[in-house]
This record gives sequence, structure tokens and C-alpha cells, in this order.
Amino acid sequence: MTLIQTVREQYEQLPYPPRDPRQELRQLHRPIASELGLANHVIWRGHRRLDESFRALDAGCGTGDNAIFMAAQLQPMGAQVVGIDLSEASLSITRERAAARGLTNITLILGRVEDLPSLGLAPFDYAVSNGVLHHLPSPADGLAAIRDVLKPDGGAHIMVYGQHGRSATYQLQALFRLLAPPALAAAERIRIVRDTLSTLPPTHWRELARNGLPREVLQDADIFDLYLHPADRAYTVPEIHDWLAEAGMSLVRWLLPHLYSPESYSAKLDVSHLSVPEREAAAELLNSRMAKHSFFARADSAETLAPARLDDETAIPTWLLHDANGLIRPQLEVKRELELEIEGIQYRFLLDPFRRAFLKLVDGERPLGAIMAETEARLPKMRPGERMESWYRLYQGLEMFNLLGLFPAR
Ligand SMILES: C[S@@+](CC[C@H](N)C(=O)[O-])C[C@H]1O[C@@H](n2cnc3c(N)ncnc32)[C@H](O)[C@@H]1O
Repeated sequence: MTLIQTVREQYEQLPYPPRDPRQELRQLHRPIASELGLANHVIWRGHRRLDESFRALDAGCGTGDNAIFMAAQLQPMGAQVVGIDLSEASLSITRERAAARGLTNITLILGRVEDLPSLGLAPFDYAVSNGVLHHLPSPADGLAAIRDVLKPDGGAHIMVYGQHGRSATYQLQALFRLLAPPALAAAERIRIVRDTLSTLPPTHWRELARNGLPREVLQDADIFDLYLHPADRAYTVPEIHDWLAEAGMSLVRWLLPHLYSPESYSAKLDVSHLSVPEREAAAELLNSRMAKHSFFARADSAETLAPARLDDETAIPTWLLHDANGLIRPQLEVKRELELEIEGIQYRFLLDPFRRAFLKLVDGERPLGAIMAETEARLPKMRPGERMESWYRLYQGLEMFNLLGLFPAR
């Protein structure tokens, strides 16, 4: 069997992530890669209209979290999503999930990401490829294929594994190549992995990282994906920059920029002699636990758009999350801190009277000038300079965590 056939076989047997279409209406999964307001902010600086011409791609869509979430956001505008995957079992789960939600704007294609350019699809504005390219025989071919089906000003969100943060995982993969080789039946291999993980010595990196917390519950699909995968490679920060450069692309922004800044880990470090990519590499080594790298990228030739200036009164403060009204607004009334959990990461942001008054007025319609005038009426004792300074700090704090953008006037 070729490598790609082995990979396909795994995902035919164990579609990933495990999802039950009968549970679909209980919860809309909202992977942050598919928050289209955020993509608009990062890639187009808020200039792109999400109208019927917008086309999104989920490259290696698996059981459909990203495709479904993008389709749910785009269906009201009549815009289309395409999902492609090797595994029919995964696509059929995505299909059933879409049907359960009444989404009619998803096209699912059984095929290889590498073959995208030959499929005659109309080009895309935005492509998400989450946890896929590191499983390809040639990740470079997969990335080039995605680049080739983007519009000239299109962009992508890519997640691949992080080398240093997966050290324990790679040690375990090597261990399971000895203890649970592919020659054994899948059920036997899974049993061996489960037994071994439940009795790891306390010296093992995985146990040290657990730090006394309960072991995570792994489904069979997780065990295969993490420990028995036939094709799995990982990247360091410099390798990501090199990989993108080879494809004629560049990194627009890390999904979580603060993780890639050495200053986030220690105020004492002097990194002034390092270039930006070197600082990011230093941050990765300081953190040492980054098991994934998620980032936005686009072709080098794509035109760079100017962001709205923070003092542009016509610009429009805009929540970057799809359900800001549900997630954020209720907290503004009652809490001292804005608390959010996005994909397992906790965010806390102190709310003072200015921030509360300002954020209550953010609706993606009101321009900055109108919001500032309203906050002035509510907090008349604040000096104009102080108000402006508070707005800059508010913006920087929330933008870094992908919550707030400033979109140009329409
Ligand atoms: C870990 S899953 C990720 C699924 C999905 N992107 C997500 O984030 O939930 C990897 C997926 O990539 C698909 N895949 C692997 N190699 C592929 C290829 N060459 N072309 C298309 N899909 C591929 C697998 O079938 C599987 O569904």
C-alpha cells in the first residue's frame, strides 16, 4: 500500500475528529480558523465584503468542523464552501451534519488536496487547512496546490504540528512502532497504546506535562491520530518560514501572536539584536510546548492592504467572532473581567467604565467617532487624550486575542 492509501484507510476506519451527526444541533463547533470576521481582519484588514462572491475552501475537511462553520456563516449571503477529503467516511459525516443544519451551500469532493488545481474549481478567497498538510507525503505539494486555487488576493489559514511541543508524542510514536506495529490488528494496537499510556512512568515527558491533572480521555480515532499515524511530520518556526517561502507565500500573522513574542515569556530578555523570525524562533524555544502552529498566509504577490488608522473616526470597530453578542455582550453588563475560552485557551481582559461603555456600543455598524462621542457623554470627566489612550490600549489588548478589529468605512 502507498503511504497515501494507508492514510486514507486510517481515516476511512476512524474519521477525524469523531463527530456524530445526530448530535449536530446540540452545538455549533466554531474553530477559530473559520471565524470569517477574523480572516477578513487579518488578511484583508476588514476591506473584504463577505458577499455572495466569497468562496471558501476546507482542504482536508475531515468530518467537517471548519466547512460547516464557514457554511453556516456564509449561507445567509449565498456564498459557497467547498470541502475536499480523501476519506468518504469522513465526507459522509460532513454531509449529514450539513443536512442536519439545513446548509445547502457546501460542495464536498472526494479527492486529494494535491489535485485541487486540476479539478476546475473557481478560485477561492479563503482556504482553511487544519491538521492536514503534515500528513501528506509532500506537504510542499499540498501547500502549492492550495496557493494555486486561491484568488490573487486570497489567503489561507494553516495549522500544522509543532516539532518541539510534540517531543513526547514523537517518543511515544517511536515506542509504539516497537510495541504496536502495523502488522497487528488495529484493535490490538489500540489496546496496547491504552495500556501503555495508563502506566507511563512519572519521568515520562507526557506525565510531567500532565502535572498531576487527570489524563485526557482519548477516543480510538485520537489514539490513531496521535500515536499510530503512518504519516506525521512537524515544523519548527524557521521551517515554517522556509516552507512558505518555497511556495512563494509569506506569513501574514500567527493566530496567537503573543505566543511568538519572547517578551511574553520574560521581561528581562534582550532580543533587540534578533530579526523578527529569529524572535519568533526564540519564543518557540522559550515556550517549548507549542504542539501546533496556526497561522494566516498569502501569496507574496498579493497586494498589501492598509489597516484603518486607530484615529480614523469613520472606521468601524468590529467584533471578530461570529457570535460576539452571545459570548461577549452579556458579560459587559455584570463582570469586572471579560472571560472567554476559545479552543481551550482562557482569556481575561479587565473591564473598566470606559471599556464597558465603549464595548457595549460595538456593533459592526457604528463608526469610531460616534462611539467616542457617546462614551464622552457617558464619562464626561475623562480628558480627550486619556480617552484616546484608553481606546488604543483597549484595541491592542483585544486585537491581539482575535476579538476586536477596526474595519474601514464602507
Ligand atoms: C486530522 S484530520 C483533520 C480534519 C479537519 N481538517 C479538522 O480540522 O477537523 C486530517 C484529514 O486530512 C485528510 N487527508 C489526509 N491526507 C489528505 C490528502 N492528501 N488529501 C485530502 N485529504 C487528506 C484525512 O482524510 C483527514 O480527514
